Amino acid sequence: MRFTVSPGGSINGEAKVPGDKSISHRSIMLGSIANGVTEVSGFLQGADSLATLAAFREMGVSISNPENGRVRIEGVGKNGLRAPSNDIDLGNSGTSMRLLAGLLSGQNFGSTLIGDESLSKRPMNRVVHPLRTMGAELDSGEAGRPPIAIRPGNKLKGISYELPVASAQIKSCLLLAGLYAEGCTSITEPGPTRDHTERMLRSLGYAVETKVLESSNAELSAEGARSQITVIGDGELNGGDIKVPTDISSAAFFLVAASIVPGSELTLRDVGVNPTRTGILHILWDMGADITLSNERLWGAEPVADITVRSASLQGIAIPQRYVPLAIDEFPVVFIAALAASGTTVLTGARELRVKESDRIAVMADGISALGGAATATEDGMIIESSTLSGGRVDSHGDHRIAMAFSVAAMLATNDIEIENCTNVGTSFPGYAELAQSLGMDIRVA
Ligand code: S3P
Repeated sequence: MRFTVSPGGSINGEAKVPGDKSISHRSIMLGSIANGVTEVSGFLQGADSLATLAAFREMGVSISNPENGRVRIEGVGKNGLRAPSNDIDLGNSGTSMRLLAGLLSGQNFGSTLIGDESLSKRPMNRVVHPLRTMGAELDSGEAGRPPIAIRPGNKLKGISYELPVASAQIKSCLLLAGLYAEGCTSITEPGPTRDHTERMLRSLGYAVETKVLESSNAELSAEGARSQITVIGDGELNGGDIKVPTDISSAAFFLVAASIVPGSELTLRDVGVNPTRTGILHILWDMGADITLSNERLWGAEPVADITVRSASLQGIAIPQRYVPLAIDEFPVVFIAALAASGTTVLTGARELRVKESDRIAVMADGISALGGAATATEDGMIIESSTLSGGRVDSHGDHRIAMAFSVAAMLATNDIEIENCTNVGTSFPGYAELAQSLGMDIRVA
């Protein structure tokens, strides 16, 4: 699939982006192992969260076909999953594979997790090694990549583990294994990462303790800089209602587009504004963006708000490192904001971007440079100078967020930009091109 985007237009109106991907995955996983029924609304009907849904059906859970974001899960309880009859194919979804590796390490049956070409290149030893320390019997493939093969083994033992990188996927994987382990599983994170697993576990009645170890970061004092999250393996989950906010990572494309394209004013409704996800707002505010939150409220355990954005002139900044894990998925489009900003923007401390759906540092630097922009990749980040892109062709390398980021860039380019390999936009943002078109982007899909 190819997007062709013509320069011009502005972003105006009101919209709702699709449901949060991280929360949608977790609603299926936790709803499936809860006792009783879980009703989900706002579920993301994208390929990634649908891969998680299909995996649990394969393991005997009765889950309704999602309709307008509504899904009914007949929870089977913590020990009610059945052995899948085939390998579990998780497509493009790293979250599915890493979280399931933890949850399935606790089962009394074996399973094998596989993925598409992109997922098959991503590092899995970051979950395989600590799971082995818990007593799990599992292997990754060559060079620590998928597939992950899990054998039924002895009961897991709780561990104390210090995350080597700030990763919600590793944390969540180990907490899910911890639900099946003897004793306490305690995970220490170097800085705050998205805490949807902890919030949802608590909302389904499972005790999770979060202890702030150091709170040196004034702006994020509620989260603390370093914290320890503990679960004990003897609890049960009770099904309930889960209302999924819309995904701030999807909203980010329009927050940037409306900020950088003159004459824009857009309101996005019901956006998840969990403070472990709002790095994009802080970065854009620091750059001078005109973004306001209204109607702030809680949907169950998760804060939501309506977000209004108007165009503004942005300035380049040195992106504070504390925002990196809180905006980890938003950097492709942050780089586009940086092109439109005056001066220089510098990102450091973001080496994790190299192991996302693509190497987002290399792919974005190459794409921006190929279109005449000034971007220099560094080992752990990027240096971007204010510049105007010419038209031309870029390859998204099958990475949904790269494809959408370049579509935003095209609004300010001098000629059309063609973006190749856009099918995977449907992993997180089904209907992106249609919504973007309706808000004022001149985008065509072929
Ligand atoms: C996610 C965590 C992040 C993020 C991914 C979703 C999650 O990955 O990039 O898109 O749902 O836990 P890491 O934990 O690898 O940073």
